Amino acid sequence: MTYSVALEPLQKQLTIPINKAALQQKLDSALALIMQKLDATILDLGDKFPGEACKDGVWPHVENCAWTAAFWPGRLWLAWEMTNEDRYREAAERCLPAFRFRLDHAIRTNTHDLGFLYILSCVSAWKLTGNETARQLALEAADKLMERYLPDAGILQAWGTLDDPEQKGRIIIDCNMNLPLLYWASEQTGDRRYAEAAIAHVAQAATHLVRADASTFHTYFFDAETGKARFGNTHQGYSDDSCWARGQAWGIYGFLLTWRYTGDNSMVELSRRLAHYFLNRLPEDDVCHWDLDLCNTDAVRDSSAAAITVCGLLELVNGLPVLDPNREIYENWALQIMASLTENYLSTAEERCEGILKHGVYHMHDDIGVDECTSWGDYFYMEAMIRLRKSWVPYW
Ligand code: GLY
Repeated sequence: MTYSVALEPLQKQLTIPINKAALQQKLDSALALIMQKLDATILDLGDKFPGEACKDGVWPHVENCAWTAAFWPGRLWLAWEMTNEDRYREAAERCLPAFRFRLDHAIRTNTHDLGFLYILSCVSAWKLTGNETARQLALEAADKLMERYLPDAGILQAWGTLDDPEQKGRIIIDCNMNLPLLYWASEQTGDRRYAEAAIAHVAQAATHLVRADASTFHTYFFDAETGKARFGNTHQGYSDDSCWARGQAWGIYGFLLTWRYTGDNSMVELSRRLAHYFLNRLPEDDVCHWDLDLCNTDAVRDSSAAAITVCGLLELVNGLPVLDPNREIYENWALQIMASLTENYLSTAEERCEGILKHGVYHMHDDIGVDECTSWGDYFYMEAMIRLRKSWVPYW
């Protein structure tokens, strides 16, 4: 399948190559800071989870009920992989019963976010330690996610019950990140239904969420019964026809996750096109505003979208042929954004800020988590870091 989507030429050439050794040193210092902050948070939280975003630099302590809960064990697994310190593995494993409880009691499980939730908590545990209980739990979550598949439209409905008049037939770009749960379930069980649903969904996302100019809608509605495409709009972006920065980042990275499992090169090409659109709309310090349409304004930044994009760009490098000259270009962009995040966006040891990556935005319209650390921002900054330290096997 090919998608007719524009490939904008990149406007800014990174002429001065990043000093990789100097960046690595800064990342080593950042890792020490991260461990310090994580250690404090482990102690503070007890058996609770950090909320979606900090409030005035402090994590709300919540039960396992938000879409972001698994970014906490995700961070702990990454910390374990980077340090070999058993306390991180133990803390990640202590989270598992809460994910069992959540599924058993259907706590906010009417959501495509089952992917985020059970990939980073359970698939990770299975891949890293062979934890069979975690594997079973992730397979159950995949079955639960399949309940959201609407075969006539070939989509996974994002939010709400399937008969919710406001959410019926709605998909969102973020869902690309959840599809690996289904691909993984097919691999584990030999049952192709999971992967077939994911492949059908991603084709609808590529066709309808991506606009011809390679920007993206945040959400798109289909007629659930006939499958007829209806219209795109936004939930968290500036406007229905703007390009929400984090949505674009979920697209850049998320389409590549389908490529990882299927080998479909059209996903790599699509990601490349979304990446060019994103990179052409960055301010001076290369960390995006919360909506890419606000790139020439003093709107607040979304560092979390920048961190997701660094991971996406590094995955894009993996998706291109070894001799492709673009590999170096995308790697340099990833390093450039990472350097900017590391120099200007991290909290300090002295500061009263419990998170790591400052200046993210959760939900501007609802005024939640604006200019704060976010659970996923901290996670993806750490994922970018591990990708730059070693050859890393993704939990996705
Ligand atoms: N997936 C929800 C968000 O990015 O805010």
